[in-house]
Amino acid sequence: MAGNWKMYKTPAETRAFFDAFEPLVAGVSNCDIAICPSFVNLEAAVGSTEGSNIAIGGQNLYPAKEGAFTGEISGLMLNALGCKYVIVAHSERREYFHEAEADVVKKVRAALEYCLTPIVCIGEKLEERESGNTEVVLGAQFDGGLAPLTPEEFSKIVIAYEPVWAIGTGRTATPQIAQETHAFIRSKIKAAFGADAAAATRILYGGSVKPDNVAKLMSEEDIDGALVGGASLDPKSFAAVVKF
Ligand code: 13P
Repeated sequence: MAGNWKMYKTPAETRAFFDAFEPLVAGVSNCDIAICPSFVNLEAAVGSTEGSNIAIGGQNLYPAKEGAFTGEISGLMLNALGCKYVIVAHSERREYFHEAEADVVKKVRAALEYCLTPIVCIGEKLEERESGNTEVVLGAQFDGGLAPLTPEEFSKIVIAYEPVWAIGTGRTATPQIAQETHAFIRSKIKAAFGADAAAATRILYGGSVKPDNVAKLMSEEDIDGALVGGASLDPKSFAAVVKF
């Protein structure tokens, strides 16, 4: 169960969040919990969660160890700060920062090089779903960004399916739509990497996940977790999502 804080919170707000959140999930051992704050809050987040069952991740990385890339952050830096995860190719990065499939492959490899688990996002836009092209779009994202990985690389990633039309809109995919799409993604994994890989890969659903809809989504066979935006900003609501 992962939270993506996007561009919200200051370091002081980050510490206050974890002061409240940590005791609420202290007894949880049946799932992995991760929060991905913005870069400037990572140190506060890692410091606040040391010794707890909460892992911290970045929201992006640049695919080089270091260099003249003004404004960018590397996997080496995330690892050195104590991060365990990094989100790759969130739809907002695809839309506003023009990230494409070739970037996904490079970023996944850069993350793995520094022992970070990449949470790789794929998802279709509203017009793509409405025109019946969901599987074409997801298939292209999978074929371009994930299929080129080696089986060993692929075994270390987490996939997040986030329909763009459900992000921040309050319009969640129905459990049935999410399940059908997750099953399609799992079939792509099976075709590319085999049945064992398909069964072992964690596929998170993201898009307006809230305490009151998480249980139904999670009851679907192919939904293994959630990537939560808005509802992860409040300690009580994210704890309720984690403990659905
Ligand atoms: P919301 O939960 O706010 O819809 O955001 C989903 C998301 O984009 C998580 O990465």
